[in-house]
Amino acid sequence: MRGPVQSGPKVHTMFRQAASRSFVRNTLAAQKRFASTKTIKEALQEVIPAKQEQLKALKKQHGQASLGEVKVEQVIGGMRGLKAMLWDASVLDPLEGIRFHGLTIPDCQKALPAAPGGKEIIAESMLWLLLTGKVPTEAEVRQLSRQLAEKGHLPSHVEKLIDSLPTSLHPMTQLGMGVAALNHDSTFAAAYEKGIKKSEYWTYALEDSLNLIAKLPALAARIYRNVYHPGRPLPSIDNNLDLVGNYANLLGYGGNHDLVEYLRLYISIHGDHEGGNASAHTAHLVSSTLADPYISYAAALYALAGPLHGLANQEVLRWQLNMRKELGDNITHEHIKEFLWKTLNSGQVVPGYGHGVLRNPDPRFIALQEFCDTRPELLADPVINLVKKASARTYEVAPAVLKEHGKTKNPYPNVDAASGCVLFHYGITQFKYYTVIFGVSRALGALTQVVWARALGLPLERPKSLSLDAIEKAIKA
Ligand SMILES: CC(C)(COP(=O)(O)OP(=O)(O)OC[C@H]1O[C@@H](n2cnc3c(N)ncnc32)[C@H](O)[C@@H]1OP(=O)(O)O)[C@@H](O)C(=O)NCCC(=O)NCCS
Repeated sequence: MRGPVQSGPKVHTMFRQAASRSFVRNTLAAQKRFASTKTIKEALQEVIPAKQEQLKALKKQHGQASLGEVKVEQVIGGMRGLKAMLWDASVLDPLEGIRFHGLTIPDCQKALPAAPGGKEIIAESMLWLLLTGKVPTEAEVRQLSRQLAEKGHLPSHVEKLIDSLPTSLHPMTQLGMGVAALNHDSTFAAAYEKGIKKSEYWTYALEDSLNLIAKLPALAARIYRNVYHPGRPLPSIDNNLDLVGNYANLLGYGGNHDLVEYLRLYISIHGDHEGGNASAHTAHLVSSTLADPYISYAAALYALAGPLHGLANQEVLRWQLNMRKELGDNITHEHIKEFLWKTLNSGQVVPGYGHGVLRNPDPRFIALQEFCDTRPELLADPVINLVKKASARTYEVAPAVLKEHGKTKNPYPNVDAASGCVLFHYGITQFKYYTVIFGVSRALGALTQVVWARALGLPLERPKSLSLDAIEKAIKA
């Protein structure tokens, strides 16, 4: 027979002792498991020398080779198609879409380790692939998750700064400010001030970049809490969870497995989109001045905050909700067509459509749509009917309307056309926040490039500009 159930302080002490014994056991097991596992720094260190040699040989043997001419329309047309930047981590093909070190999104979904109990790509797997060009093992990813979680807390001066901001200040403005303020603890800036060799720059750039990626969830979640749920306590970071698992917890949605998985996929596939997009390019440009990774990425976030770039995901929701307000719930193809023409005739762009490089539907859009298609409960939900179905119907109508309108070179949806709808369905209805989630993600690719630019010793970026008169003179010459 069992004895009486014990209660009171004795039981608490027993629980505490047992918990502490199991914590020690788990920690020792984790240390043992990780002892033989490569860290991301070691994995990167292995691949850097070959790339340095490749760059040196290219410069020496082919420095004067031409990659094509520069046309006037490129100089006055936002440098579209101009091959003027080195970027290894991902390549964007106009028809096929993005490949990360040669892997398409479906390839990544097959090859990259997921979270325990999950199926989707996680941010750490994508970061490992982007930085090292290698598919990580599960142990490597778990170790990286732990490493990031352990660095995930915000310094108190950043917490105070964010808490002091008016809640009416756009969340993206707040995110950029918080990231810039983290540069207080930049190891790169401190080492540079002391005087370090150029060959050591990348190690400090890596340390700062990992610290920044680790702290983004706490920063982004604090902004969400302050603006939309003031006073709600923020849970502490769980060292056994992946980056996005922790982010979801901090946002208050950790209990919703499907949303956590959606955020994992969303954040992984928004991570990099080759180098010329405005946010990635900004980080690259600013860091080429040897500004530290924090202020380089803060600058990038403000490029992301423009409506033609990252802010488009917020604009899509605003546009679709306006459509619903005007046309009601029973939206037909004909209604959408009319609304599209009304938008175009008023001189506005249709958010979520068109792209600077892509000439086909964006495979990131397709991956996010497929996430919904495997979940009947998403398709049956009235909120999804409102936003996702509206976006799906818009997708059925918009390309033809945009073709008839005749301006955009790409009448197909980009990633922003549907990314916000699923967030809306799961309860993150505050669409002004959507670009912040994109900002947590884009750090993976932009900071990868910051580290590699230092490892390869890339110089200050400084293209030649021309006045209108100088262009005319050059043509006549
Ligand atoms: C993404 C975008 C900025 C790319 O711009 P771009 O490379 O200049 O695109 P194009 O070369 O096809 O543009 C040619 C013309 O079509 C227009 N156009 C492009 N996309 C359009 C859209 N979705 N709706 C209406 N007009 C569009 C452009 O404004 C431009 O007009 P202009 O000649 O009067 O200046 C553009 O497609 C756009 O504004 N899309 C909507 C915003 C968006 O979804 N952004 C997120 C991108 S991931």
